[in-house]
Amino acid sequence: MIRKIIQVGDPVLRKKCDPVTRFDQELCTLLDDMKETLIAADGAGLAAPQVGVSVRAVAINVEEGYFELINPIFVWQKGEQRGPEGCLSVRGKAGDVLRPSKVKVLFQDRKGDRYSLVARDFFARAVCHEIDHLDGILYTDKATNIRAAED
Ligand code: CO
Repeated sequence: MIRKIIQVGDPVLRKKCDPVTRFDQELCTLLDDMKETLIAADGAGLAAPQVGVSVRAVAINVEEGYFELINPIFVWQKGEQRGPEGCLSVRGKAGDVLRPSKVKVLFQDRKGDRYSLVARDFFARAVCHEIDHLDGILYTDKATNIRAAED
């Protein structure tokens, strides 16, 4: 089911999200809905608080594939890249954000199994942007040259 994407100004986007502790049907439904919502919105990533659920779960849809990261934690971050970002919760804007060029994260899948991944370039940018959402941070907090953009 496609869920409504919460827009900036709603306090749920500013909360530090709780860890996922139950890997149950409710989590699967949330993740299925996030996937449908993200693909329908043609976005690169969506975090659970963007659909109003304050838990540490993100979905990322990039060239490398579709990823669900539950309770993600950075192992390391390397390098720097500055580039444009937008956000499904900040409609009609874009801005330039400095991010690491390569990151390694530990995470769980929807069954609770533990994995790690290394992301580079745009994928790394998407991972950082989405993990920021779990701590109540929006890209506009970090961006320069915030401007009007097509959605
Ligand atoms: Co966003």
